Parts: sequence; C-alpha cells; structure tokens
Amino acid sequence: MNEVLQLGSEYFSSQFGGVPDGLWSAPGRVNLIGEHTDYNDGFALPIAIDKRTTVAARARADRLLRVTSSSFPGMMEVSLEDLDPDALTGWAAYPLGVAWAMSRAAAAGAPDGAGSGGASRMSGLDLALTSDVPAGAGLSSSAAVECAVALALNDLWELGLDRQELARIGQLAENRVVGAPTGIMDQSASLLGEPDHGILLDCQSLVTETVALGFAGAGVGLLVIDTRTSHSHADGGYASRRRSCEDGARRLGVGSLRALGPDDLPRAAAQLDGQTYRRVRHIITENQRVLDTVAALRTSGAAAIGPFLNESHLSMRDDFEISTPELDLAVAGAQELGAIGARMTGGGFGGAALALVRNDDAGDVAGGIARDFARAGFTAPHIFPVTASEGARREL
Ligand code: GLA
Repeated sequence: MNEVLQLGSEYFSSQFGGVPDGLWSAPGRVNLIGEHTDYNDGFALPIAIDKRTTVAARARADRLLRVTSSSFPGMMEVSLEDLDPDALTGWAAYPLGVAWAMSRAAAAGAPDGAGSGGASRMSGLDLALTSDVPAGAGLSSSAAVECAVALALNDLWELGLDRQELARIGQLAENRVVGAPTGIMDQSASLLGEPDHGILLDCQSLVTETVALGFAGAGVGLLVIDTRTSHSHADGGYASRRRSCEDGARRLGVGSLRALGPDDLPRAAAQLDGQTYRRVRHIITENQRVLDTVAALRTSGAAAIGPFLNESHLSMRDDFEISTPELDLAVAGAQELGAIGARMTGGGFGGAALALVRNDDAGDVAGGIARDFARAGFTAPHIFPVTASEGARREL
C-alpha cells in the first residue's frame, strides 16, 4: 500500500475504529487551456494531476452520515433524512452536498430525475477524508473531494451511475450546496483524467476525448505557481463574469456563446457595450485557442503550444479581467525565464499560474519567479511540478 493510502486507512481507524470497507481517491486538476468556457458550452483542456483526495468509507447499520477530514477539525454528523442543501456549511458542505445530490439521484434513478432507483440500498456511512491537493490554489481541491466521495457512494450504495453522471452530481453539489455557479470542467477532469493526457471537453455535447500531451518525450513539463493569494468562486467575481457572458449571448440572440465564432466578433462589437464585448471576445477566442492547442499537440508536439497559452493569459488579463498582479508577475517571470508558455489557470482572482517549461529550465524558472515575488514584496509562491494522472478510482 502506498503512503497516501496507508495514511487514509490509518486516519479512518483513528477516527472511527476498525477498518474501512474501501478506499477511493480522486485527483485535483490543472486546466491547460480553456478558461470560463465550460459554463458557456465551450471547450476546455484540463489535466488530472498527481495530487489526490482519498476517502476511506464504511457502511453503517443505521442512516447516520459521519464525516471527518484530516485538514479540518471536528466531525460532522447528519442523518440521511435530514440532509438539507440549505443547512450545509463549511468544508463538510462538499462531501455532504455530494451525499445529498446522490441520495436525490438514487431516489429518482438518475441526476435528472428519470427512472426508479436504489434509495433502499442507501445506508448510513462513516467517511474519512485525507488530501494532498493544495486548497485555494485553483487546483480543484473541492472537485477532488466531490469526486472521491461520489465514486465511493456510487459503489457502496450500488447506484451504477456512470462518470458523466457523477460529474454532474459533483457540479450540482457545488452549485446548490456550496453556492458557487461553476461549470462541469473540474469534476470531469477529476473523473476522466488519464496519465500523460489532457481531456478535451466539449461542454455542450459533454463528449470528451483524450489528447496525448507527449510532455515526457518532448523533455518538457508543467510547473504550477501557486501565488497563495485567495480565490473563492462563491464570491462575486466569478458569478458576475458568468452573468456578463449570459447577457452577451442573450443580446446577440444565441443560447450560449458557444454558438459564436471569430467571424461574429464585428457584430458583437457593434451590438454590445465595451465591457460585455470584451467578456464575449475572451470566450470566443479562448474556445478557438483550445482547438488550436489540441491541433498543435497532435501535429507539432508540446513545444508548439506556447503562443496559445500566452495569448490565453493576455485575454484573461485584459478582456475577462480575472488576473491579479501576482498572477501577472508569475506569468511574465516564467516567460522571461524561457518558459514555452505560461498563463493563469482556474477561475482567477488569485490561485495559480502554470508554465510549460523545458525540464532543464525548470529550476531556473522556479528560482527566478521566487526572486521576482520577493522583490515585489509578495507572499512567497509555492512552485511545484505536476504530471497528468489517472482520474478517480477505487484503491482498495
Ligand atoms: C472554476 C470552475 C470551473 C471553470 C473554471 C474557469 O474552476 O469551477 O467550472 O469555470 O473556474 O475555467
């Protein structure tokens, strides 16, 4: 048993006694490109990373859910009957929000309410969470919790939901219980990730494709620069960007911005106010950059995608206005120090940037960015490599 699993199992025993029925894990994600496109029915290319949340779980004879996390003090207890999305708060809103969304799906047979299902198989559970996904860094520590718990409950309650349905359950928990109006990208990446591959998501059809990254063969890798400045999607910025996009789509007479391409930009410029136009332009050009990145990876290899990453950052900085001075400095520093490309990643307003670097340059890039941050008087960033890893799985 590897160290993480060992820890997960031991943590369970220390909290509940005895041994768990099973252990499940799910990774965080980093988005290579395609930001704020998911809730616009667009394209994104996230990667599941080699940092995971594990949940050790055991069925109970009664209807009580007990959940504990090695990252937060206290044990939360609630009976399955009393799961109320409006009453769940704090860290436990993620695992218990998933339990609420799963019990709803079980009662109905599917997340969207069709069929008849397995509510009778739902027992109470003891759940113990451990994680090495950094929280608040824009690496979807919340999706890692949601997806690990969703997979565990799907097995223990024998619901037979597929991974797309589990992703929608995680998203529902996040939207309804946590109150963040996020899209489907994070949960999809965490559930569908594959080693050495990005996951091309078409958020309209929900069709996914794996895209070989070829990073190891090209001698390159991804560095994450966690600026350690906070971001919270329940706050106003994320929701207001989403509203602008929906408003732009409505005023341009389409159901979602996915329906528009670069040829529609002149019409959008003529019809929209300046700020809404810039928001719309980010989404339209970002969708195109995702497709261009995939094409470049397939035809020319990883070293060819740098310009798309760099342009994506400028678009988020200037058009979508979700970057911060720390993220801009991390990106500029990486670019000056020879990165192939760099951009902020995730929802924005803080969190992390990523840089695609030649392996030989990784130390210099990390050292240079740390120096730039110290010179600017910013909090020291946390800089580490990530590799594309397998999505959520049962471990034991
Ligand atoms: C957050 C959300 C995602 C997505 C990104 C931005 O991570 O959870 O759904 O919208 O921001 O691309």
